Amino acid sequence: MHTAVIPAAGLGTRFLPATKAVPKELMPIFDTPALQLVMDEAIGAGCDHIVVVSNKAKSGIEAYLVPSPDVVKRVRDSGRTELADRLSLIGTDVKITVAYQDEPRGLGHAVACARKAVGNESFAVLLPDELMGDASLLTQMWKMHDAGGKHVVGLKQVPMSEVSAYGCVSTTGVPDKDGVVTVTGVVEKPAINEAPSDLILIGRYVLGADMFDMLDTLAPAKGGEILLTDALLMAATAGNLLGVVSEIERHDTGTPMGWLQAVIEIALKRKDVGAELSTWLEGRFK
Ligand code: UTP
Repeated sequence: MHTAVIPAAGLGTRFLPATKAVPKELMPIFDTPALQLVMDEAIGAGCDHIVVVSNKAKSGIEAYLVPSPDVVKRVRDSGRTELADRLSLIGTDVKITVAYQDEPRGLGHAVACARKAVGNESFAVLLPDELMGDASLLTQMWKMHDAGGKHVVGLKQVPMSEVSAYGCVSTTGVPDKDGVVTVTGVVEKPAINEAPSDLILIGRYVLGADMFDMLDTLAPAKGGEILLTDALLMAATAGNLLGVVSEIERHDTGTPMGWLQAVIEIALKRKDVGAELSTWLEGRFK
């Protein structure tokens, strides 16, 4: 099995007040929750087991993941066959497991909470507030991991002014023709003048099962959270971390503005609504 872990147990404080009632991961990108889009990406990269890490207070996540035969039937009867197929896929062709994180103690802790569901296997991690244009990056990362056994992270080159909002890496040499580099260090949200490069982590990881052991050894970082980047640093120090510098289309939906931009850009590309939205936008700014 190829397993994907999707951490979705955070508080989503940057999206308050919406996240009082709606989990951030279910905020719709036009009409489809971000969680669904990352599940589609994982499935597109060959994953057949999806572990969503949720918090018991975020009941909407489970409600979304449990297939409702009535809804599927109603949609199918109304002639929307493609949508009905998509809805019924959940829970059938692909195994979905919900794991729980009792308290949001950080991304590293959330991933560790998936250990039992993942088992002693390699796994992908997809952050649902980073959306990719397609499954190509994750597919490439799985291939690299399967071929060499190293942990693999997705990277993007950004203007230095943006690095402080992300995990940032140091590397040796320049990326090869496939964008592959050896990662030698990882630091969480560095100040601009302390950032080791302009390469940031973009929320896609393919990790070996030993990553769980590394997470178990970690103490909470300054803000009290157990950081995935600290475990990645251990892997990098041991010479076991590769990165792929990618130019894939990417949207950071972790903030309301990033989310709104993603909704507009993704809707503009859709065959069913793109032209109508484009006409409206043009009229709006004439
Ligand atoms: P974020 O830091 O972007 O999400 O984590 P957040 O903490 O919910 O958001 P803010 O900062 O309060 O606005 C990235 C992903 O990791 C999950 C989040 O749900 C999000 O999908 N996460 C984060 C967990 O599952 N557990 C945690 O303890 C922290």
